[in-house]
Amino acid sequence: MKSKMCEMFGIDVPIFAFSHCRDVVVEVSKAGGMGVLGMARMSPERVEEELNWIDAHIDGKPYGIDVLMPSNLADSSDMKFDPDKLLPKEHVDFVRNMLDEAGVPPLPEAEAAEIKREIVKGMNFAPKESLAMIETAMKHPIKLIVNALGSPPLELVERAHAQGIKVGALAGKPKHALRHRNAGCDFVVAVGTEAGGHTGEVSSMVLWPGIVDAVAPMPVLGAGGVGRGRQMAAALVLGCEGVWTGSLWLKTAQSEVTPEIKQKMFEAEAEDAILTTSVTGKPCRTLRNKFSEAYDQPGALQTLPAPTQNYLWWQEGRTRVERVRAKDFLTYPVGQIVGDMEAEISVREVVYELLNEMLDARERLDEMLA
Ligand SMILES: Cc1cc2nc3c(=O)[nH]c(=O)nc-3n(C[C@H](O)[C@H](O)[C@H](O)COP(=O)(O)O)c2cc1C
Repeated sequence: MKSKMCEMFGIDVPIFAFSHCRDVVVEVSKAGGMGVLGMARMSPERVEEELNWIDAHIDGKPYGIDVLMPSNLADSSDMKFDPDKLLPKEHVDFVRNMLDEAGVPPLPEAEAAEIKREIVKGMNFAPKESLAMIETAMKHPIKLIVNALGSPPLELVERAHAQGIKVGALAGKPKHALRHRNAGCDFVVAVGTEAGGHTGEVSSMVLWPGIVDAVAPMPVLGAGGVGRGRQMAAALVLGCEGVWTGSLWLKTAQSEVTPEIKQKMFEAEAEDAILTTSVTGKPCRTLRNKFSEAYDQPGALQTLPAPTQNYLWWQEGRTRVERVRAKDFLTYPVGQIVGDMEAEISVREVVYELLNEMLDARERLDEMLA
């Protein structure tokens, strides 16, 4: 396809796939799109391991990385020393009691200590920790760095550009997109509220053309609610140069999602992908579950600020829940397209389905215009 984003990366189709799963990244790049590995919760050693694997399997195709480099979160590196001090007892008890009452067994003590160590190792939200991961990643042939939580620092943009690496950032408002442009980004990702994960309040239909106009002629990728070819066609018609997708890959055979969570996704409706602060402390679109519902009850505790809430959920809730696969509590970030997910298919099939339906949409439009 002819698109500024295809030209920028030498790819066949402007389908950008955000994923925490290296297999998805490799498969999308090999199918002609661009895989982007999410590095949140990885230690620099794990980054090295994942990127070595990608380099060995991707047949020289381009790929990128995505980092969470916050500009306004408290420096979480203190958590490395005594994370328990940061978790108020009232909140820990709230989660523990909820799971006790639901009959979800506590973690065995030895296992709990090991799991806690692992979680702490992966809680890399401070800018200096993100920079350490980026240092490691820049020794690999990455072609793209995307920042999720704000404009990347100028120093990083300059270093990336000196190595021929492009830089992008996620935006939920035109003013964020303008800030990214001024920070030297090569493109922006306009994320509508439909999206899985952290997202804003404006729908893709309104946001995409708003951001396209605000930063023109800089290219924009449309994100949030792209699960089918008609939605991809809509993004292109609204002025985007391609799409940035996340939820779509969770249903694939290659994805990191467990069979139980995948099944919950296949059963879910669009409205089961709720915007909640219960998982990370920031509004994050996630599959509805008993934990998120507990915070909606009258008189419930307020969630903690990010990243402490995230830490609370991982340490006290998620590992305990996933260990016994307690269905009511199982959750994962996912967007409103979850209502459209019916069965597992391969990454390659997803790419072909997107392109086929997009071409059908084009023919339909051509007929109407003729
Ligand atoms: C499971 C999951 C985890 C995500 N984690 C991140 C992340 O760590 N960094 C990030 O930039 N975006 C993250 N996102 C958001 C995606 O980058 C993207 O904006 C979003 O998935 C697009 O909307 P869609 O889900 O409708 O495709 C995540 C999305 C999902 C579904």
